[in-house]
Amino acid sequence: MRKYSNTDKLIMKTNDIFNIFTGIKSSGRTYPAYNIEEQEIKSLDKKMISNLMRVNHSGEVSAQGLYIGHALLAKDENQKQLMLDMASEEKDHLDWCEKRINELGGKTSIFNPLWFTGSVAIGMLSSIRNNEQALGFIEETEKQVAEHLESHINKIPKEDKKTYVILKKMKDDEKEHGETARNFGAEKVSKNLRKIMELTASIMKFASYRL
Ligand SMILES: [Fe+2]
Ligand SMILES: [Fe+2]
Repeated sequence: MRKYSNTDKLIMKTNDIFNIFTGIKSSGRTYPAYNIEEQEIKSLDKKMISNLMRVNHSGEVSAQGLYIGHALLAKDENQKQLMLDMASEEKDHLDWCEKRINELGGKTSIFNPLWFTGSVAIGMLSSIRNNEQALGFIEETEKQVAEHLESHINKIPKEDKKTYVILKKMKDDEKEHGETARNFGAEKVSKNLRKIMELTASIMKFASYRL
């Protein structure tokens, strides 16, 4: 069997990192609102919905970062593949949010590069020790995201059926992601970590709603 030098190993690792960063593709699912006709929405409401979707878009940017961070430090191939598969589904969400923001005439957040890099770092940090801890972090994140999406579902006006079906589908997916993490052996996160996660998410929501 061929022996790899340290330089070979470094090149292989660098390639791996590069592939993970650039290779996340959407899983190709159809835009949930594709066959729903746009209804008349008051312009103030339109602005509010587009701001909410900007927050959700930033959340999905962060999800990309988190899963990439987890994949980079995954302890085995199965865990890595699981992270990349989840990242693909989150990429669908990212695309759907962006499409809806465009339809509503809004813009994505200027803070996205910050959320992305911060999330890669958090993903890596929570994966340092073992897969179970990383999965625990994912389970808690997905739980919080699903609750947050539910709150947005309750905020949008009922005539906006397009946003409703997108948020509903995303919420169902996030619930499933959380269950997957649990089934793969997620460790429960501590109360303190949960609080820190909630606080970080609030900062992101506050900033992305505005810019
Ligand atoms: Fe998502
Ligand atoms: Fe998710």
